[in-house]
Amino acid sequence: MARGDYGYDAPYALVMFACAGIGTALAAVFFLLKGLPRGAVVVGGYTVFFLGNAGSFFYTTRRGKFAEWARILDGLRLRGDEAVLDLGCGRGAVLTAVAQRLASGRVTGVDIWSTTDQSGNAREVTLRNAAIEGVADRVQVETGDIRALPFPDASFDLVVSSLAIHNINGNADRRTAIAEAFRVLKPGGRLAIADIRATRVYADALRRLGAIDVARRRLGWRFWWGNPVAATTLLTARKPGDPTR
Ligand SMILES: C[S@@+](CC[C@H](N)C(=O)[O-])C[C@H]1O[C@@H](n2cnc3c(N)ncnc32)[C@H](O)[C@@H]1O
Repeated sequence: MARGDYGYDAPYALVMFACAGIGTALAAVFFLLKGLPRGAVVVGGYTVFFLGNAGSFFYTTRRGKFAEWARILDGLRLRGDEAVLDLGCGRGAVLTAVAQRLASGRVTGVDIWSTTDQSGNAREVTLRNAAIEGVADRVQVETGDIRALPFPDASFDLVVSSLAIHNINGNADRRTAIAEAFRVLKPGGRLAIADIRATRVYADALRRLGAIDVARRRLGWRFWWGNPVAATTLLTARKPGDPTR
């Protein structure tokens, strides 16, 4: 289990779900007090919906995404000597989980540290989490935009990303981020991107770039952001070529 403090993803969304739940609960009580039970039942239905969404969101951001990423990373069967890049690493939930699976390898995180996208987001916080998890020696953290990565071509064996690329406005710029991820991959290198909304766009972009083994699959309830409509999808792909050359 993670020992660091990884904050809350999109904290305003969680607060909005919770406030809507509490607001509709108060409205249901008001209807009951006014002797309008049918109105109370209808509004109470919304209370269940909003509080259910808040509960799912809270679980995913604090526990579920860690469990799902542990399974994803275990499934990648890392050798332990890889160079890994985490796009939009935030406070390091995936970054430190990768580092725990490396021996001589290193993982680099890159981020612009948006506190709208993740509460308390800051480079120092990520480095502190790496230290708390005992992996500081395998972790490097850079400030940068994933649409213009500050790394040479063919630098990484694996590129991962969790809930970051959808934060970029517009599919054109998201495709740019995908092209950058593909550029910095070594021949034979792999990609694993978990995200909501536009993973079909990323998959198409990767195929156009020449990626192989491009696959998408919806992840389970542990990675829902409130309800199944806001489920997370995992996109995996590989760059053609011989990884040993
Ligand atoms: C929802 S948080 C997820 C953080 C982390 N991957 C995790 O799963 O805990 C999204 C992250 O993407 C980062 N981000 C958004 N747009 C970015 C961009 N254009 N370049 C780099 N990072 C970006 C945000 O600063 C934030 O840290």
